[in-house]
Amino acid sequence: MTLFDVYPINNITISRALDSYVWDEEGNRYLDMYGGHAVISIGHTHPHWVQRIQAQLGQIAFYSNSVVIPAQQALATKLAELSGKPEFQLFLVNSGAEANENALKLASFHTGRKKIVAFSHSFHGRTSLAVAATDNKAIVAPVNETENVVFLPFNDEAALAACFAEQGHQIAAVIIEGIQGVGGIVAANNSFLQLIRSLCNAHGAVYIADSVQCGHGRTGQFFAHDAAGVDADVYTMAKGMGNGFPVGGILIAPDIKPKHGMLGTTFGGNHLACTAALAVLEVMQQQSLMANAAEMGRYLMEQLSAVEGLHNIRGRGLMIGFDVEGPLKDLRKVLLNTFHVFTGEAKPNVVRLLPSLAITRPQIDEFMHALRAAVEQLTPAPIHNHNIGPRETLLVT
Ligand SMILES: Cc1ncc(COP(=O)(O)O)c(C=O)c1O
Repeated sequence: MTLFDVYPINNITISRALDSYVWDEEGNRYLDMYGGHAVISIGHTHPHWVQRIQAQLGQIAFYSNSVVIPAQQALATKLAELSGKPEFQLFLVNSGAEANENALKLASFHTGRKKIVAFSHSFHGRTSLAVAATDNKAIVAPVNETENVVFLPFNDEAALAACFAEQGHQIAAVIIEGIQGVGGIVAANNSFLQLIRSLCNAHGAVYIADSVQCGHGRTGQFFAHDAAGVDADVYTMAKGMGNGFPVGGILIAPDIKPKHGMLGTTFGGNHLACTAALAVLEVMQQQSLMANAAEMGRYLMEQLSAVEGLHNIRGRGLMIGFDVEGPLKDLRKVLLNTFHVFTGEAKPNVVRLLPSLAITRPQIDEFMHALRAAVEQLTPAPIHNHNIGPRETLLVT
């Protein structure tokens, strides 16, 4: 049997991982500035996370949501503490798409409406409604096409206000990433998020903060949306939530009331997933990883801004992007193949940095050393280097 070939892959087999490093089968060590796609929050195979999962596995891995699962409440309590949203309710799922799918469905149940407002360059996942709210026609199957989703330009306050003025009574939800990830590390303006809040209040619509990539402490705050100083009605989470264990969730404002049978999933909230997610939050708290993300992010941005050829360096905390052009378009390939550094990308020319929130200053220095060397290798030498100069002199003597 062959694998269904949907992923363009690097020909590297990772067989071991620890902290911000992974090793291939030949024992080569790679620095992971990609965090396995923004998933590694507390560092690969963190000993506390491994120990908690192993201990849970010896007790019970799974039982259905038909019984009391104490780890769910323990996780909710810890999430309340770290997110600063104790009055919210938690529903547990298995992935980012499933989190957004349920958030959108919940908004529709809650309002009795059908229209969803989404934005240009958004990415919300690949399930039916999540993909319909994603601004990429290539991944929307005919069956997912719907007139219920209205796309507006990102950060365009006038367009948003006009849309609500015209269709406000039909709008169930506005869904937005605090910082667009797949869209190329583009932050929503605080004033834009505040406008979403006030328009949703005025028209009875639900504000959904997609925090799948920009949440769980990555920007130095628990949710990137927190920077705007307003609460959303629903926050969706996945990626960093389990540090690689598949788990997702949605936080739901107290005025949205549950009803038996309204939402559901077999695997969501299982013993192992809750334990993994709890271990992540314990480590985040014990090691002050949100503060570390903020501090290391500032340091990394400062270092990047001193490198010639990197354009439009942007982001917050450890969610950073910059554009590369001309000879630097192969920067990621050179970083990976020559310098053994994993980075992320966003089409067409963005390098995305999404390392573990536990990354250290020496690891960032190691990355910068590799980056400067890769840039140098890809940048044609200035003309004067071809004349007789110190290098040639050195070679002659
Ligand atoms: C902002 C955002 N939302 C949703 C998703 C979908 O998450 P998953 O791949 O876990 O379904 C992603 C994945 O990259 C994402 O970046």
